[in-house]
Parts: sequence; structure tokens; C-alpha cells
Amino acid sequence: MADVTIPPVIHLRGLEKRFGIGDAEHSAIDHINLTIKKGEFVAIMGPSGCGKTTLLNILGLLDRSFDGDYELDGQSVDTISKRKQARIRSQQIGFVFQNFNLVPRLSVIENVALPLIYKGIIRTKRLKIASEILRNFHLNEREYYMPHQLSGGQTQRVAIARALVNEPSIILADEPTGNLDSRASHIIMEELSDLHKRGNTIIMVTHNPRLTTYASRVITMLDGRIDTDTKSHIAPQKNRRHKKPVRKTKRNKK
Ligand SMILES: Nc1ncnc2c1ncn2[C@@H]1O[C@H](COP(=O)(O)OP(=O)(O)OP(=O)(O)O)[C@@H](O)[C@H]1O
Ligand SMILES: [Mg+2]
Repeated sequence: MADVTIPPVIHLRGLEKRFGIGDAEHSAIDHINLTIKKGEFVAIMGPSGCGKTTLLNILGLLDRSFDGDYELDGQSVDTISKRKQARIRSQQIGFVFQNFNLVPRLSVIENVALPLIYKGIIRTKRLKIASEILRNFHLNEREYYMPHQLSGGQTQRVAIARALVNEPSIILADEPTGNLDSRASHIIMEELSDLHKRGNTIIMVTHNPRLTTYASRVITMLDGRIDTDTKSHIAPQKNRRHKKPVRKTKRNKK
């Protein structure tokens, strides 16, 4: 398939983000031009402070104050109302951020089912879908635990399950496996890989070069700019050790 036929989901032209004022002013994002097409799995690497999280925040419509142009699905985000941006954030974009807090008074399964409310899915169905994704994350025995009864790594996995449960078409992941051991990291990368194979776009920040083997493109940033941008031809499945059960839900019979 020729690349030109795939529409860009993200198109940045001269994107700049400045922090501070006067002498302390500096550009965390320094005139970035970037096009990401639907279905790409992009890994972003680079030293601490180079602007990775700042970029993800802008891509995820969490930060609206920047210079330059950002087109999301062909529309300049400047022209999208706040209300519509909120809808895009809750239905189309999945954030996998490390300190994504769970709602303390809701059980694990209810936390994971929460984003499905926006899709208008009835409660029993929501819990069924949440239960399926928790099984994929090897957390099915913790469904009715409360968040405070989980270990740090389990909490992180539940937060990631919640970010992915409504199959967002764009997944923004900031060090999704940061605090996890290699087995737990693998479970999460499998889930991201699965979403990628189903045609979703994934942009993942990582410090771990081994995880870039799952990506179809690796971007390195330096001082707010893109330093290198390489397409990867390595099959993402290459490093897999375990075979994951396929989720059989109506959602992926598209
Ligand atoms: N709210 C803010 N106010 C002022 N400066 C900020 C703010 N947020 C980020 N910065 C600065 O912008 C630069 C980029 O920060 P960013 O968090 O994007 O880095 P990063 O690449 O994600 O780093 P890390 O790998 O450590 O997470 C840093 O110099 C940081 O100090
Ligand atoms: Mg960061």
C-alpha cells in the first residue's frame, strides 16, 4: 500500500511551545514539523527535558497554548470548539500516563469500565468489556479489589487498561512501562501491539530502546526538536514470547 493513500491523523507545522518569561523564556518545543499517519506506531525517545511530554500534551489536546499549526484528522485544532475537543479527548484519544489516578471509591472493574459510559454502553455490558480487558492484563483476580489494595505495578496496569478499554483510535503513552518489570511491560506492549494491529495510531514515549522494536517508526528528540526520524521495518511481533488470547468481542469484529 502506497503511503500517500493513508491520511495523516496528526500534522504539525512549525509547532512551538515556550515556557517562562523574559530571560527565563525557553522553547520546550522548537518549531517541529511532523506528520503521523493513521495506523503508525511511533516511539519517541530522547533525553530528559527534551520536550517529549510537552509534545504529547499538545497532541492530546491537554495544552492548547502553542504557536504554529496542529491539524488533527485534517482539521486545525484552533478551529475545534472546546466542547468538541473534550469529546475527542474522551472518545478518540487514550492517554496512558504514569500517574493516571484511579478513582479511589470505585473497584478495579468499575474504574476500567468508566470511559465506556461516554459511549452510551449499558452497565452490564460495560462490566463485561472491562472484565475482558482485565483478563488480558492478568488482573482478572483483582476485579473487585479497591485501588488501595493494589501494588504500584498493578495500579499502573489498571490505569492503562482503563485508558485502552474504549479502543481509542489515537493512543498517547508516556513511558507506559516506566515502573514495571519486564513481564508486566510485555503484557502492556502486547496490548498496545494488538491495538496497533487493529489499525489504531500509537505514539509512545519510552526510554527503553528494546521497546522500540514494537514501533513502526522511531523519532528521537533533542532540545525541543526532532533529531532523527526512522521508519522501522522490523516486524513488531519479533520479540514476542507469549501468545496472547484474542479478545472475542463485538468491538473487534469490525
Ligand atoms: N509547566 C512548565 N513550566 C515551565 N517549564 C516547563 C513546564 N513543563 C515543562 N517545562 C520545561 O520544558 C522542557 C521539556 O519538558 P518535558 O516535560 O516535555 O520533558 P521530557 O522530554 O518529557 O522529559 P522526561 O524524559 O524527563 O520526562 C523542560 O526543560 C521542562 O523544564
Ligand atoms: Mg516526560
